[in-house]
Amino acid sequence: MKVFITGGAGFIGSACAKKLMDRGDQVVMIDNFNDYYDPSLKEARIKKFLHGYKFKLYRGDIRDEKLIERIFKKEKIDKVIHLAAMAGVRNSLLNPKLYLDVNVMGSLNLLEAAVKYKIKNFVFASSSSVYGNNKKTPFSETDNVDTQISPYAASKKADELLAHVYHHIYGLNITALRFFTVYGPWGRPDMALCLFTDAITHDRPINVFNRGKMSRNFSYIDDIVSGTLTVLDKCTGYGVMNIGGDKEETLMRYIEVLEENMGKKAKKKMLPMQPGDVPTTVADIKKLRKLGWAPSTRIEKGIKNWVAWYNEYYTQQ
Ligand SMILES: NC(=O)c1ccc[n+]([C@@H]2O[C@H](COP(=O)([O-])OP(=O)(O)OC[C@H]3O[C@@H](n4cnc5c(N)ncnc54)[C@H](O)[C@@H]3O)[C@@H](O)[C@H]2O)c1
Repeated sequence: MKVFITGGAGFIGSACAKKLMDRGDQVVMIDNFNDYYDPSLKEARIKKFLHGYKFKLYRGDIRDEKLIERIFKKEKIDKVIHLAAMAGVRNSLLNPKLYLDVNVMGSLNLLEAAVKYKIKNFVFASSSSVYGNNKKTPFSETDNVDTQISPYAASKKADELLAHVYHHIYGLNITALRFFTVYGPWGRPDMALCLFTDAITHDRPINVFNRGKMSRNFSYIDDIVSGTLTVLDKCTGYGVMNIGGDKEETLMRYIEVLEENMGKKAKKKMLPMQPGDVPTTVADIKKLRKLGWAPSTRIEKGIKNWVAWYNEYYTQQ
């Protein structure tokens, strides 16, 4: 099977690529290596994390319609994992046009090409942020999702709507995966775990928003990859699927486990809630479990692996 991964130099994309190649699939990727966070980490995922693997990488932009058309025409792709996006809730408040442009218009280019080149299955990254201010927990795919509270979240909801259109009109098999706070080795430097680790390492205080009154289904990267491939292999038609860890953890417990693994206490700066952020994102993952998938990594093990990777990677920089 030949799989096209957009955002292949990204955190989740590179991990999906490795797993697909490990099981014998062919991989073609695109990434524009933008500088939303240090692109040297994206280069390192390609050169070090994927060292020794054979794949094709296009350095380009999913908004480039002609390039997307050329790739689909040339590569004879079977399935797509579309992960390229401007991620990050807070930054989307500063750059809403960029977020909508990449996340919606870029996705539209891919949907058009997927229909034209008869792609067998299209799986793409939505986000738990589409639940916005949903008060009912855990969040279920059947909940109403009309109350996004950031441009990023609204762009992901728009992608879900477009996905339904392309399924309804053209019969495209397509699933939106609502990822819940993914973490682990090779993870994103803009996310809380890395910001905390950096701050603790350099004796700076960590910013604890909503005075720590937050909880998440922290989702370990390996579980996210196996869930994504399960959907790629098994889902047809149109669907929306939560994908995340199975245990609600408080932010304070997450920090405590990090402190234990770093052997050092964090200096905590307790702050109010940030605009665009939500206090709780907890996933109901029954739907994905029915396909035989289950997350297996608790934060005690996941954060241990994270700290080991962080120490190795950042001491070499
Ligand atoms: N990591 C999480 O916790 C999380 C949670 C919810 C949703 N998501 C979604 O999952 C997807 C992958 O997230 P990630 O954590 O791996 O993020 P990431 O930023 O590490 O990966 C995204 C990749 O897409 C690339 N990209 C961005 N704009 C592009 C463009 N116009 N053309 C080509 N490439 C482009 C980036 O350079 C980056 O390498 C994203 O769509 C994100 O919104 C992630």
